[in-house]
Amino acid sequence: MGNCLKSPSSVCKARVSQNPTTSTTPSAIIVPSCSERNSCEDSHRSPQLDGLMLQSPYLKDFSFNELKNATRNFRSDSLIGEGGFGYVFKGWIDAQSFAAAKPGSGLVVAVKKLKPEGFQGHREWLAEVNYLGQLHHPNLVKLIGYCSEGDNRLLVYEFMPKGSLENHLFRRGPQPLSWPTRVKVAIGAAKGLSFLHDSESQVIYRDVKASNILLDSDFHAKLSDFGLAKAGPTGDKTHVSTQVMGTQGYAAPEYIATGRLSVKADVYSFGVVLLELLSGRRAVDKTKPGVEQNLVEWAKPYLLDKRRLFRIMDSKLEGQYPKKSAQVVASLALQCLGSEAKLRPRMCEVLQALEQLQDMKNAAKPYLLEQEKALSPVRRSTMRQHHHHRRSPLHRRPTASSSPSYQHLGAERSF
Ligand SMILES: Nc1ncnc2c1ncn2[C@@H]1O[C@H](COP(=O)(O)OP(=O)(O)OP(=O)(O)O)[C@@H](O)[C@H]1O
Ligand SMILES: [Mg+2]
Repeated sequence: MGNCLKSPSSVCKARVSQNPTTSTTPSAIIVPSCSERNSCEDSHRSPQLDGLMLQSPYLKDFSFNELKNATRNFRSDSLIGEGGFGYVFKGWIDAQSFAAAKPGSGLVVAVKKLKPEGFQGHREWLAEVNYLGQLHHPNLVKLIGYCSEGDNRLLVYEFMPKGSLENHLFRRGPQPLSWPTRVKVAIGAAKGLSFLHDSESQVIYRDVKASNILLDSDFHAKLSDFGLAKAGPTGDKTHVSTQVMGTQGYAAPEYIATGRLSVKADVYSFGVVLLELLSGRRAVDKTKPGVEQNLVEWAKPYLLDKRRLFRIMDSKLEGQYPKKSAQVVASLALQCLGSEAKLRPRMCEVLQALEQLQDMKNAAKPYLLEQEKALSPVRRSTMRQHHHHRRSPLHRRPTASSSPSYQHLGAERSF
């Protein structure tokens, strides 16, 4: 495993392009000014913002009424989720005409209806349409269309039957995810990120977290939510400077401190997701005592210690995981969480390491650690922490038990 992280970058590139499903290299994300596009004339119907506008001719432009009918008037029993920017409803459309269909027939879709809360919501809606309208990959959620009518802003996605990784890891109800499934989900998310990072015009996703990793009926993972996505640096530059946006507990420390954003910030956030997969704990959980509130602070000391790693492993796994496999993921997480951004592995390297893990002969073999089961799965650390969060428009996930919404605190000027 260690070796593959040292593999030359060209190997990574080759791997990405060898996969026929990843061959859709996105072209430059150009957001033309109004004067460059004729359709701009109809300002009521054309999504636009300060001269930036929609660039996705293949997306369906739904009317509000069509989506109202598709979701049975946004009925509460069609509600499947709530995020910081609005509610998500299940809907049905005709697979050919995309007209509203009878519930239970046609294509199932997820309709995200943004709360009409102004500029930032619209900006993120627009970024989502522009990025997902152009980026296509099996590990990115498919955007089918949008609606921009009056103040209404909606997005129509393929429906992901198993919902988000967050639901499976932290909510009571669904079957706990098995270890092989956790590895599979990590691989899916890593493929999506590698694709973005290695595409011709690099894209920084900026919002890697369990709630943005959606799962199909086979636990095939796809990244959703491109509202914070940002074009990567060009030329010799290593980063872009921008106002800090993201979700607390997932954002990389150098990005929070300086506003300098690079793909390595995504790698850090992916490291946090790996910790969530290992431990079954949220990145931030205010219901926990002291240092345990912050997953990275709490878990880091255990990651390299083979004898103590089991203490942070998810008790819902009931010891059913290959020890070696967990050690590899723990060591990968540690590398992703490295405090020096440039020393963190690239996503394609992380992907290679995870794929090798899946190939390991014992990956699917249940591994019962009797000794570990006998001991308490969680040890409270007495380590003391001081961490300072600069005030920034990070998404805040308040507590494990609270609603999934967060406060969205600000706007980014450099869009
Ligand atoms: N395409 C989809 N298919 C099925 N369920 C979805 C889909 N998109 C979103 N959801 C569900 O709706 C929930 C809310 O999604 P949303 O992206 O609005 O918020 P979030 O990811 O929880 O928070 P944030 O606003 O910070 O991104 C998700 O957690 C998921 O359970
Ligand atoms: Mg989301």
